[in-house]
Amino acid sequence: MLAYHWTMIFHLLGFGLLCSSVIGSWILGGRYRRAEGWKTKRTILGLLRPIGLLSPVASGVMLLSGIGNLVAKGYEMPLPSWLHVKLAVFVIVLAAGIYSGICGKRRGAIIAHLADGDAPANAETAVVRLDRRLQSILMLQVIALLVIIVLSVVKP
Ligand code: HEM
Repeated sequence: MLAYHWTMIFHLLGFGLLCSSVIGSWILGGRYRRAEGWKTKRTILGLLRPIGLLSPVASGVMLLSGIGNLVAKGYEMPLPSWLHVKLAVFVIVLAAGIYSGICGKRRGAIIAHLADGDAPANAETAVVRLDRRLQSILMLQVIALLVIIVLSVVKP
């Protein structure tokens, strides 16, 4: 097998991991929104955490194997413009992922207080705001991933 085959296998494995993380978050996010009671919501968020943690691992695999693809396929500077756009969109996915991690942590802490019955007065409003923000970030990531796939396959 050529070096390019190996880097591409890891690239596609990373892609599978990333899709698992995004789709898993989407499905469990739906369960979380429909769940009744803060204790149930806290349990579901506990399940969401390891799925969310897959995402930075997958992004690292995508970046390293993507650089591997560049080297193994003999790309030279300047890189083609579709790759520039792909990298820019990838950076947006990364930044959105980091922000989503921060918001998710904040939401988890507030929901833990709500479940224990010792949350401050405005806690529920804060949860609604964070829920909406996290949902928008996930939607942005799904769209960005679709753009990356189209760019990678069509290479316009
Ligand atoms: C979420 C992130 C990414 C996704 C979903 C993704 C997806 C893909 C897919 C599906 C292919 C196969 C295209 C084909 O063979 O027709 C591919 C190829 C490739 N990717 Fe990525 N990729 C991502 C990130 C990156 C990054 C960060 C880099 C660079 C650092 C990169 C560099 C490449 C290169 C050089 C190829 C080979 C292009 C060619 O066939 O000439 N990718 N990517």
